[in-house]
Amino acid sequence: MGRETQGGIVGAGPAGLLLSHLLHLQGIDSVVLELRSRADIESTIRAGVLEQGTVDLLTAVGVGERMRREGSVHHGIVLRFGGRDHRIDLHGLTGGRAIMLYAQHEVIKDLVKARLDAGGRLLFEVTDVSVHDFDTSAPKVRFRQGGEPQELRCDFVAGCDGFHGICRPSIPATRRTEYQRIYPFGWFGILAEAPRSTPEIIYARHERGFALVSTRSPELQRLYLQCDSKDDIANWPDERIWQELKARLATTDGWSLMDGPITQKGIVAMRSFVVEPMQYGRLFLAGDAAHIVTPTGAKGMNLAVADVRVLARALAEFFTSRSTELLERYSQTCLPRVWRAQRFSWWMTAVTHRFDDDDAFSGQLQLAELDYVTSSRAAATALAENYVGLPMDASSLK
Ligand code: FAD
Ligand code: PHB
Repeated sequence: MGRETQGGIVGAGPAGLLLSHLLHLQGIDSVVLELRSRADIESTIRAGVLEQGTVDLLTAVGVGERMRREGSVHHGIVLRFGGRDHRIDLHGLTGGRAIMLYAQHEVIKDLVKARLDAGGRLLFEVTDVSVHDFDTSAPKVRFRQGGEPQELRCDFVAGCDGFHGICRPSIPATRRTEYQRIYPFGWFGILAEAPRSTPEIIYARHERGFALVSTRSPELQRLYLQCDSKDDIANWPDERIWQELKARLATTDGWSLMDGPITQKGIVAMRSFVVEPMQYGRLFLAGDAAHIVTPTGAKGMNLAVADVRVLARALAEFFTSRSTELLERYSQTCLPRVWRAQRFSWWMTAVTHRFDDDDAFSGQLQLAELDYVTSSRAAATALAENYVGLPMDASSLK
């Protein structure tokens, strides 16, 4: 069976849903195809930190109301090393910018609701999605819905299907260059029903490995600890998790970590990845489909948002004037920001994690780096401006 739309969007993550919403605001029709169910995408625990620019954009396009009510604004983060805390004053160092803690699946809920309220077409639980003819002016997306084969004819395809999606590998291998780094460790993430132990996120460097204390609400906390990338959740009973977190987060001033029942556990692989270019013909990649950053910089979802902002503008120009100028520059516009986020995420990882080849010299260098960044206003400013998010237009840093 055939259908038509202007934009065929593969994947209902933050990238695909926000793109569909931004296009709708400009009068451009799209269909979003998603493998998983609505309940599944609305409950998968992932990111939590929204940059100032992401917060501003979500607010400006009418999907920020619940985020402003239920999210919490943070004006600083804490780097913990040598058993002591060193605060980075994000707000003071960036002229009043900040971050928002609001879970990614809540952003997803807000976007799904906005699309459905506006009559948007979101197709959940589709299977066998494939993209075709995107090197012509008449691309197609084929899929099955309820087992029935379907074909969506569109003017362009947006590959917003995450790192393991089908869009990126559909681009001929000779027409893409992939840059990748895989790390020998992962993150063990938990959700715990416990009170807050800290008003601000703590990034802790410890000889036993990295630990991170974040939050979701006054009653629900999100914590991570560096683990072996091939580790198994079964090796981590609750008691061992709390013991390890407490060891890595111990301070010399008697701070204590609040514990409680653990309601969710998961292991996240650590990877850095970029594909260049982010487009081929009328197929445009956005978000994790095009790049993965290590989660230490809290940049993944924010990059997805930045990509689709650029793509939505370029498509709006195309549909109003048939000019392809902005579309042709899509990769060039996005990639400088992507690489800056890669650099920052790699740096945050490098100075806080224990590496396989750890030797005493590397450990001292990490401490020197952390000492410098927490005692020099210039170095702390560099961290802060990256953390709250570089300007959406990466060329305007002055
Ligand atoms: P995804 O969210 O992966 O969405 C892709 C969607 O496409 C999925 O719903 C998937 O089911 C669907 N799909 C896949 N294949 C197909 C197919 N063939 N057909 C149709 N649909 C398909 N980022 C931050 O900014 N801040 C943070 O604090 C942060 N913390 C993180 C913590 C963890 C533990 C992890 C794992 C990630 C974190 N991130 C963070 C990264 C962030 O979650 C991702 O970068 C973000 O989800 C990317 O959005 P996306 O829309 O590009 O891709
Ligand atoms: C989170 O709250 O999930 C979180 C916070 C900071 C990060 C990554 C994830 O760097």
